[in-house]
Amino acid sequence: MPLFWRIFLLNAVVLIVATALLLGPVTVSTPVLLTEAAVLTAGLAAMLVANALLLRVGLAPLQRLTRAMTTTDLLRPGHRPAVGGRGEIAELITTFNTMLDRLEDERATSSARALSAQEAERRRVARELHDEVGQSLTAVLLQLKRTADHAPPGLREELRQVQETTRASLEEIRRIARRLRPGVLDELGLASALKALATEFGGPGLSVQHCLDADLPELDRETELVLYRVAQEGLTNTARHARARRAELALRRAPGGVELRVRDDGRGIGVAQEGAGIRGMRERALLVGARLTVDRADGGGTEVRLAVPVPARLPAHALVPVRESAHAPPP
Ligand SMILES: Nc1ncnc2c1ncn2[C@@H]1O[C@H](COP(=O)(O)OP(=O)(O)OP(=O)(O)O)[C@@H](O)[C@H]1O
Ligand SMILES: [Mg+2]
Repeated sequence: MPLFWRIFLLNAVVLIVATALLLGPVTVSTPVLLTEAAVLTAGLAAMLVANALLLRVGLAPLQRLTRAMTTTDLLRPGHRPAVGGRGEIAELITTFNTMLDRLEDERATSSARALSAQEAERRRVARELHDEVGQSLTAVLLQLKRTADHAPPGLREELRQVQETTRASLEEIRRIARRLRPGVLDELGLASALKALATEFGGPGLSVQHCLDADLPELDRETELVLYRVAQEGLTNTARHARARRAELALRRAPGGVELRVRDDGRGIGVAQEGAGIRGMRERALLVGARLTVDRADGGGTEVRLAVPVPARLPAHALVPVRESAHAPPP
C-alpha cells in the first residue's frame, strides 16, 4: 500500500474511534463537567500516543535508511540497510542498495584505474631517476676520480670531499627510486621485498621484526603490489606517528588466503582522522577484494591488518579447454 494511504488510514482509524466514542458512550455537556474534561483529556492523550506509535512503526525503515545514507562509506563496502517495511519504503531501500552496488563497483574500477596510473608514473619517474640522473652522477664520479688522481695534493683532498658528496647523492637517488618502484618485488619476490622494507625502516630508535610464512600460496602481481604498498604505508605511519620502539611486519597464511599485519607498540591511533595514507590503503584493499582494519593493538599501539582472499587453484585435470567447451555439441 502506498505510504500516503497508510498514513491516511492510520489517522483515519484513530479519528473514527474518537468520533464513535463521542457519538456513543461519551457525552460532553455545556459547560463541560470536570469528569467529562478528564475523560476527554485522557482520550486525546491516548489518540496522540496511538498516532505517534503507529507512525513510528510505519516510518522506522525510513529512519534506518537515513542512518545508512549518512554513514555509507564506499571505501568500506558491503554494509547494506535491511529491506524492511512494505510497498514504497521497501522499494526505496532496495533501490538504494542497488545504487550502492553500482557505486561500489564504479569506485573500485576508478580506484583501480587511478592506482595503476599512479604506479605507472612512479615506475617512469624511478626509471628516469635511475637511468638518467643516476648515470650522469656516476659519470661525474668517475670524472672526479680521474681529476683527483692528477690534481695537485692541495686540491686532491677537496676533490675527494666533492666525490663523497656526489656518492651520497647517488645513494639517495637510488633509495628514492627503490621506494618509488619496488624493483626488488619483481626481481626477488614479495618475501624479500618485505624483508628489505623491514630492514629499511629499522634503526637505532625502532626495531622492526619480520615474520613471513614459508608456505605462502602463489599470489598474482597485483596482490603482491597491494601487500607491499600497505606494508610500506603501515611502517611509514609507525615511523612517523607512533613513537614506537618495536614494530612487527608479518605475512601469514590464513583461512582462504593470506593476512598481512603491521603492528607497533607506540601511542596508538586513538581517534585520529584517517588521512590520504589510510584511505589509500583502503582503496588498494578494494582492488583485490581484501579487508583492511586499522585498530588498537592488544597491549597498546596500532595494528593494521589486511586479509587478502586467494582463490583456490583448480587442479590441472579439472580445467576444460575453453574452445572445446564453447563448441561442444548440445547434449
Ligand atoms: N601507527 C600509528 N600510530 C599512531 N598514530 C597513527 C598511526 N598510523 C596512523 N596514525 C594516525 O592516523 C592519522 C592518519 O594516518 P594517514 O596515514 O591516513 O595520514 P598521514 O600519515 O597523516 O598522512 P599521509 O597522507 O602522508 O599518509 C595520522 O595523522 C596519525 O595521527
Ligand atoms: Mg600515512
